[in-house]
Amino acid sequence: MPGATDVLDFSLLTDGLDAEREQGITIDVAYRYFHTARRGFIVADCPGHEQYTRNMATGASNAELAVVLVDARKGLLPQTRRHTYICGLLGIRQVVLAVNKMDLVDYDQATYEAIAAQYRVLAQSLGIAAVHCLPVAAPTGDNVGSRSPRMPWYAGGSLLELLESIDAAPFQAADFRMPVQWVNRPDHSFRGYAGTICGGSVACGDEIVVQPGVQRARIERIVTADGDLQRAVAGQAVTLCLDREVGVSRGDVIADALRPAPVADQFTCHLLWLGDAALLPNRTYWLKIGTRTVNARVMSIKYKVDVNSQSRLAARHLELNEVGYCTVGLDDAIAFEPYASNHTLGGFILIDRLSNATVACGMLDFALGRSANVHWQHVDIDKSVRGASKGQRPLCLWFTGLSGAGKSTIANLVERRLHTLGYHTYLLDGDNVRHGINKDLGFTPEDRVENIRRIAEVAHLMVDAGLIVLVSVISPYRSERRSARELFAEGEFMEVFVDAPLAVCEERDPKGLYQRARAGEIRNFTGIDSPYEKPETPDVHLQTAGQRAEQLAEQLTERLLAEQGGIGSVD
Ligand code: ADX
Repeated sequence: MPGATDVLDFSLLTDGLDAEREQGITIDVAYRYFHTARRGFIVADCPGHEQYTRNMATGASNAELAVVLVDARKGLLPQTRRHTYICGLLGIRQVVLAVNKMDLVDYDQATYEAIAAQYRVLAQSLGIAAVHCLPVAAPTGDNVGSRSPRMPWYAGGSLLELLESIDAAPFQAADFRMPVQWVNRPDHSFRGYAGTICGGSVACGDEIVVQPGVQRARIERIVTADGDLQRAVAGQAVTLCLDREVGVSRGDVIADALRPAPVADQFTCHLLWLGDAALLPNRTYWLKIGTRTVNARVMSIKYKVDVNSQSRLAARHLELNEVGYCTVGLDDAIAFEPYASNHTLGGFILIDRLSNATVACGMLDFALGRSANVHWQHVDIDKSVRGASKGQRPLCLWFTGLSGAGKSTIANLVERRLHTLGYHTYLLDGDNVRHGINKDLGFTPEDRVENIRRIAEVAHLMVDAGLIVLVSVISPYRSERRSARELFAEGEFMEVFVDAPLAVCEERDPKGLYQRARAGEIRNFTGIDSPYEKPETPDVHLQTAGQRAEQLAEQLTERLLAEQGGIGSVD
């Protein structure tokens, strides 16, 4: 609104965040809408401080163009680098650099030129294709709405003219792609696949492939709310009908049969961590890409990026607002595109499976060669055959609980009983496994995640070999116990919560470790300075305080024998 001096205060347009900040409420992204005779605009005003990197990314993720402001007196600052880096990371191809406060440097051309030149070098190094620089004095509106008579040496347009004229059409990938959002099947006479085309175009008669599979068909109809089309292009929401029956479900990608999307289950990617809790490599998250959701793990962090300097640093985990270059592995293969060529099929989010919170956004780079070159080898003798020859049902009994709760004692007693009865068993004990396959792992959260992942994989192999496997590990995190369970078939995994109050475990202290942890000699000790997340719905809950281990082991064995259904075990 014009003030007493009749000077328009442009900052009022974007001060929504200041108001929020003053009120102490959540700062997210403030959107402002305006239009001129030539174009409509949505301004995403994001807080620029490093601690709000995730908010900047939220704003940038849907933007076609970014305006980066630089103070003419200060030149490029670390935050200029950071903002530009995030714009590049999120794939913004057009940046306007507004060198502001020109009034405070006497509208000096040389000052402006030097900053503009530096910025072009920076933007180029960050992969931003087009940079438009201009000098402005925002409080007086010089070069904002109209050209300034005070800077005749600048021949370009005002900020508004630039924004109205820059070709900001969203980048569209060339090859036809449509992630299926919904299978529309109101009755037997109609079956269509609804979605928004995210690349290229499609016409009736075109041959398509349903990915990640290989089934092909031709487009019979392109249905929309306004009637059928002969042809549809990226950005349009349509329902496609095919000329033959093929299996299509939500999450599949319908693609040009001649130029299909690559399919893979392992990738490199950039990841911006948005979660309050750190990223733990090897933890399972949901990865949502296009309309598909699939289990995913970050397998390694190649490096993290200092967003202020773009230098690469070694990292074992990523904290809130940190950017890393990572490898990620999925449970199932997906059709994808590098983010640089298709934001819909290359951009993803990670979701925490317990809290449902969005914990990262990511940009796929390329598929790891090994993911295309390694195939599952079929073998004729399977788990059920191996189990039957041993006269038992293969099973994983997973004992979890605090150190000193009694896991290993009870597991040992159960194994002895089963062995005596002729069952084929193996006891995977945390302490023992840490002498061999997990010798390289300590007790940091990321090492425990990996410890449990490896033990679960080994147990899975042993169940596949037909054994009854008893696993005795603290396994303090719900998330990893859930991932362990998911490796096994229904009824093949039994979570046994060996429960004793911390005080009781500390009193028992069979290895003297609690005492040492209390004395500060051992760090990250479960129950002391590292968490234990109790199972919410264990299959078996054993409370060991004041109980005899032999009795609990006997009860558990009886239950196991009942569930083995008396399959001819050897007496
Ligand atoms: S887990 O958390 O990664 O599942 P795991 O069961 O393999 O742990 O190993 C736990 C055993 O390591 C304990 O029984 C204890 O003897 C020993 N230990 C050594 N340091 C620690 C620690 N910081 N926290 C817990 N256990 C520890």
